[in-house]
Amino acid sequence: MIDYDARVQSLALLHVTKAQVLGLSFKNSAMMHVAIGMSVGVRISNLKITAPAESPNTDGIHVERSRHVIISDCQISTAEGIHVSDSTIVRTDNGVRIKTWQGATGFARDISFRNISLTEVRNPIIIDQFYCPRGGCKNETSAVQVSDVKFIGVKGTSANDMAIRLECSQSSGCHDVVMEDVDIRNAVPGEQAQAFCFNAHGKKAKVVKPDVPCLSY
Ligand SMILES: *[C@@H]1O[C@H](CO)[C@@H](O)[C@H](O)[C@H]1NC(C)=O
Ligand SMILES: *[C@@H]1O[C@H](CO)[C@@H](O)[C@H](O)[C@H]1NC(C)=O
Repeated sequence: MIDYDARVQSLALLHVTKAQVLGLSFKNSAMMHVAIGMSVGVRISNLKITAPAESPNTDGIHVERSRHVIISDCQISTAEGIHVSDSTIVRTDNGVRIKTWQGATGFARDISFRNISLTEVRNPIIIDQFYCPRGGCKNETSAVQVSDVKFIGVKGTSANDMAIRLECSQSSGCHDVVMEDVDIRNAVPGEQAQAFCFNAHGKKAKVVKPDVPCLSY
């Protein structure tokens, strides 16, 4: 939630109609770096946000109770302790996603997604450590180490048959992935939803649908 003492954010846009923010850099903000709240029609582009692990807060751009917000061409380097909750995601490409490049270093850990509602999302739950938007990537021996990732109460419908994909690096894999109370159905009635794992390890609890075979009860 946004702290309405606007001084604690590096940049806060609250109750704004039609605004454009471009070409700024932020480093180690005391709170969220950029917060947008109760606003309509905001365009954010070409921001560079850097928050190393010791930074007090790693929210890059936080959007709350706003409409028509377009964020593009931003570089957000934040690390661990990312918690997403109480969100509704409708007809997007990705629902809850972690993606990393091959050959990168560092880690992505202590990340949680709770109480997320999805409607006809193409990739409802996805960890993609083979991210390669322009093609031509090789498999490398190093990878970002992904661990301690929780999906709790993630429910809704998938626009693709493959509802859950955990594709972790061949070198380090993903560890301590937890799924609990996850229920994703195929948006097409009567069609099954499926899950796929590569080198992912962890636990599941309560309902996990479709079943994710690489996680154990
Ligand atoms: C779950 O998130 C929705 C918003 O998508 C919110 O309205 C609801 O109160 C949340 N439920 C719980 C139990 O926190
Ligand atoms: C990288 O490794 C994965 C997993 O073994 C494999 O599916 C993929 O085809 C490989 N990609 C390349 C470009 O070799």
